[in-house]
Amino acid sequence: MRPRRLLFLLLLLYHRTWAEPVAPSPLPAESQLFQVLQTFVLPSANSTEVAGEAVLADMLVYVLDQDTWNLRICYPWVHQAMAEGDIEKILSSFKTGMRNAIRFMHEMAKEVRAEYPMVFQLHAGCELHPNGTRHVFTKIGEGGRDLVEYEVERRYWAVQQSTPLAKLVGQSLNGMLAVKEMVEHLLYKSCLSHLRALCRHGRADLERQEPPTATVFARTAGPAQLLLVCRITGFYPRPISVAWLRDGHEVPPGPALNTSAVLPNADLTYQVYSVLTVAPRDGHSYACRVRHRSLGTRSLLVPWENPTVTPTVVVVLVVLLLAVAIAIGAAWWWRYRRGAVSRRDVQESLV
Ligand SMILES: *[C@@H]1O[C@H](CO)[C@@H](O)[C@H](O)[C@H]1NC(C)=O
Ligand SMILES: *[C@@H]1O[C@H](CO)[C@@H](O)[C@H](O)[C@H]1NC(C)=O
Repeated sequence: MRPRRLLFLLLLLYHRTWAEPVAPSPLPAESQLFQVLQTFVLPSANSTEVAGEAVLADMLVYVLDQDTWNLRICYPWVHQAMAEGDIEKILSSFKTGMRNAIRFMHEMAKEVRAEYPMVFQLHAGCELHPNGTRHVFTKIGEGGRDLVEYEVERRYWAVQQSTPLAKLVGQSLNGMLAVKEMVEHLLYKSCLSHLRALCRHGRADLERQEPPTATVFARTAGPAQLLLVCRITGFYPRPISVAWLRDGHEVPPGPALNTSAVLPNADLTYQVYSVLTVAPRDGHSYACRVRHRSLGTRSLLVPWENPTVTPTVVVVLVVLLLAVAIAIGAAWWWRYRRGAVSRRDVQESLV
């Protein structure tokens, strides 16, 4: 069956891309994940748009150019991690594999008389844990839902939905022992060794630390509600701990406390915010406390400046304004007296 051969070629391509001699490496200090995401948009039976990327931890390391199908390598050290000297060969096999994969998908769609547009997705990767265990996965999806997932222990493509397409893909793949062996080889050998190589060469970027900056401000949410907002941004890596202190004690989780998901910034740092609902002028002091790897054992403490300072500010401003008015008045008086004669001259000439 032609689709089987085509998928085999696709997998072979991944094998070639990631194959590299296994070098002994120490276990990572934290879990490391390398994953490949590829999307094939099939608007009609004879057109296809392709997008693809590979991600190490949260760093984009390879991006597929949609027009040329060339792989863009996002960090210089990725070149060192790749198998040496055969980049051109890898790229040429990659394009052949892509063409075959696209033909395969169209043939699958045709066989089940699926309606266009269709969107196929491939998600595969491997993960290394500090305790030495490894986790690998390969999933194929369509339209945002998994079609099949490879279960390594059972050596079986498990169908993830009861549609004719999922059944056909699962059935086709399960009939091919060579493909299973290839997938296992790709995941357990090629992917894991490439992950180790990427971690070795990309250590400086993986271990990059950017300290967070935090600001606290208040928003009125009604006559009896004040929202204290703590906005933390510019930090890397992603894990962070945010808490509110009331009179120096941590506010426990509850309906008054709401912390957002950690969101990426454009510069590969992260941001998060936390909102605490309080009653205005409740007599307590509040502070936002941030803990992050970049801060070591210290924590960042940002107190909320209570608006009771406002009257002081107003008094200072009034005093300043008065002083300025007096100074202007004195200067005017001095000039008036000094210029009295010349002003009389001006008045005469105007008449
Ligand atoms: C190893 O670590 C991973 C991730 O922390 C965990 O999910 C897994 O259960 C651990 N395995 C063993 C055998 O301790
Ligand atoms: C937290 O904020 C989110 C988004 O604004 C909101 O949907 C959710 O209901 C809030 N949760 C609580 C406990 O206030």
